[in-house]
Amino acid sequence: MVLLDRALTRCQDPGRGVVAESQPKVLISERDIQRRVDELATQISQDYADQGELVLIGVLKGAFIFLADLARRLTIPRTIEFIAVSSYQNSRVSGAVRLVMDLRASIAGKHALIVEDIVDTGHTIEYLTEMLKTRSPASVRSCALVRKAERAQVEVDLDYLGFDIPDVWVVGYGLDYAERDRTLPYIGVLEDVEADT
Ligand code: IMP
Ligand code: MG
Repeated sequence: MVLLDRALTRCQDPGRGVVAESQPKVLISERDIQRRVDELATQISQDYADQGELVLIGVLKGAFIFLADLARRLTIPRTIEFIAVSSYQNSRVSGAVRLVMDLRASIAGKHALIVEDIVDTGHTIEYLTEMLKTRSPASVRSCALVRKAERAQVEVDLDYLGFDIPDVWVVGYGLDYAERDRTLPYIGVLEDVEADT
């Protein structure tokens, strides 16, 4: 229904396509994503070998698919946790982040890896890293599938990165636009959406 709505909107818009053209344009193919997730999993498994259990912390909602694929490819002992944050939309403080759902388990004494879908301004990953460091983990590192390097407002030390992308709004593989397109197997661009958040 949602897709149909969008298709209809475009049909009524002069110069826009019909239903078949309403899919986001491929930016990173399913094959390229899978190959890169394989590489990241190999690297992470090597880096944490013989260090005990790794706690993977998926940032909801966007990271759920990336986390699922990455976690299943690791060869080291691992557990899964989730955390949710949201950006203050109308705040006078630019880039302020709010914790919406906390971890259920303690990470004290454990190695923690934040798994994010996308790093845009960098505020979310910076907030999470600083917050988790206060909980006495053995270490906190971060992993993101994509990054919009030219949008950075704070310097973020990502330990693992899938792809750098230009300043465009992307959907698919967990990422959404107004909750749409999260389950696309590839990362695509909605050509009429401006990346302005
Ligand atoms: P940051 O705090 O500005 O780095 O924003 C990170 C969050 O913004 C991500 O976790 C996403 O939820 C959201 N976001 C930023 N850019 C995009 C995009 O292109 N597509 C979908 N979500 C995005
Ligand atoms: Mg996210």
